[in-house]
Amino acid sequence: SLDLNGSSTGIKIQPTMYGIFFEDINFAADGGLYAELIKNRSFEFDEPLTGWKQPNTKTLSPNLDSGFLTIITDKSKPNKNYARITVLNDKNYLLENEGFRGIGLHQGGKYDLNFNLENVSGNISAVNISLVDENGTAVSSVSAIIKGSGWQKYNAVFTPSKTIEKAKLQITFTGKGVVNMDMISLFPQDTWKGRRGGLRKDLVQKLYDLQPGFLRFPGGCIVEGRTLAERYQWKKTIGKAEDRENLINKWNNGFAHRLTPDYWQSFGLGFFEYFQLAEDLGAEPLPILSCGMACQFNTAELVKMEDLDPYVQDALDLIEFANGNSDTKWGKIRAEMGHPQPFNMKFIGVGNEQWGADYIERYKVFEKAIHSRYPAIKIISGSGPSPDGEFFDYGWKELKKLNAQIVDEHYYNSPEWFRKNSARYDAYDRSGPKVFAGEYAAQSVGVVKPENKNNWECALSEAAFMTGLERNADVVYMTSYAPLLAHAEGWQWTPDLIWFNNLTSYATPNYYVQKLFSNNKGTEVLKITANGKPVTGQDQLYATAVKDATTQETIIKIVNTDAGSKSVTIHPANMKFGNTLTKITLTAPQLSAENSFENEPIQPKEETLSLKKGKMMMEIPAHSLVILKMK
Ligand code: AHR
Repeated sequence: SLDLNGSSTGIKIQPTMYGIFFEDINFAADGGLYAELIKNRSFEFDEPLTGWKQPNTKTLSPNLDSGFLTIITDKSKPNKNYARITVLNDKNYLLENEGFRGIGLHQGGKYDLNFNLENVSGNISAVNISLVDENGTAVSSVSAIIKGSGWQKYNAVFTPSKTIEKAKLQITFTGKGVVNMDMISLFPQDTWKGRRGGLRKDLVQKLYDLQPGFLRFPGGCIVEGRTLAERYQWKKTIGKAEDRENLINKWNNGFAHRLTPDYWQSFGLGFFEYFQLAEDLGAEPLPILSCGMACQFNTAELVKMEDLDPYVQDALDLIEFANGNSDTKWGKIRAEMGHPQPFNMKFIGVGNEQWGADYIERYKVFEKAIHSRYPAIKIISGSGPSPDGEFFDYGWKELKKLNAQIVDEHYYNSPEWFRKNSARYDAYDRSGPKVFAGEYAAQSVGVVKPENKNNWECALSEAAFMTGLERNADVVYMTSYAPLLAHAEGWQWTPDLIWFNNLTSYATPNYYVQKLFSNNKGTEVLKITANGKPVTGQDQLYATAVKDATTQETIIKIVNTDAGSKSVTIHPANMKFGNTLTKITLTAPQLSAENSFENEPIQPKEETLSLKKGKMMMEIPAHSLVILKMK
């Protein structure tokens, strides 16, 4: 039986308690959330023809039957390459783009095609562009008459006659001659909020439904880069999309078991768009910046202390970009990009998942510079990759000495670890830094094993653990599952919260656990006990209770990790409720059960029950998370 005490514990739940961790891993940005459908649209990859084919060109020598393409490079520009196309044979030269594992098209949808073209010589009079299905049959075609001299912008709209998961874009040329082409781009018009060149609607909707308290971006290891030169530099991700310098993705060929050599960052989803997304989601923006340390799992390259200034300046300038008035240098750029009002950023992260003395030394410099100029900004520091161990202990000890504000902890571990660690934060020092459980996920087979599944055992174990996060909301201020998104044919890491292909997406059981906690987070923690003790796995039950000051609801979350159902008696003391109880149950027939594109059997089921005065008898099914809401 559980005793529920109506008097508050005094522990407030932060609005940032449950948030989202976004990283461009698993095609999360390019090929995913960023709705661009053309891969390598401006020929910037190291292999500039990645994603492109010339099906009627037999060799790459000029001695051909149809035509050929060469790459012209102007190193003075951020977008340095463009294609020079020599057409030798009227209507026979073909240039084809494969998209990101194909191009997803919805029947009757509208798709904006944009490209830049310069007519160089000869008499190419038109280009004909088609979207073709897997058999090469056109499902929508447009043509453009070549105009004027110099670079010109062209646009057209496709309306596909059928839905295709893996279409291709084909360009043919009428006449013979030479043209230059660049920024060949295709977007659905039906994006999130209908923004042209925007984000994929179904994916943002799933993020929105989580009601996240914050949006952490842009990662993850991607912040750090494999080398310092390949670190994420936010200043290169703002301004016009076509002027953003592309960069190889840190997860390009990330793991030997999942080779994705075609993984680059166009930065079409750049820092302005991240701030805008956070605003759309009603989430606090939480950018994480490089602290001058390349990924310690790769080169571990370090910037010398005397060369750290530009990195620190990037942080200061970012705060001005987000929060400065439009008469400041960086605030003006934000305003020109369409957001005159500041984004009101409150948090910034220094380094992603760094550890050791090198990190602490660099963190100190950032902290001093940021807080002497912007004392109200809260700084997130890191404790390295492991929940325990030497580096982790060292980081925490040093960060405590420095009065760090919020320390980021990352843990990927077995489901059993999550079940056993629901009391992890019970013993944390209440006077020390607050915790950001910034990356966590139960791993069904082993950490970063490709066989890992988003199965019910993992999700249920996370739910058990999350009761401990919530009970300790006086220490734990922010939490996020990781990674967030994965393309079914372009991933490097499992498990992930949301899976998608070119047409659709599905929510994992882990997603529904996150959603139920976040949508029912409440505003203050109430005491709920079993035999006077917090409910942390006794009899395989875990529980937390909160009050929501806005809705006036009392919300209990109970997790039963046992194979049998439990009859739980809840004794509410000092509390009065009306007579309605909402019971939400999330469970699955087996621990190995999963959701999929075809079927989402694991979803919350809601029922309204009548509430009797006094104690409540409640059936908590085997292997379930149950949310009880009373008013
Ligand atoms: O979430 C995947 C990776 O795990 C992140 O990039 C990194 O921070 C952690 O090691």
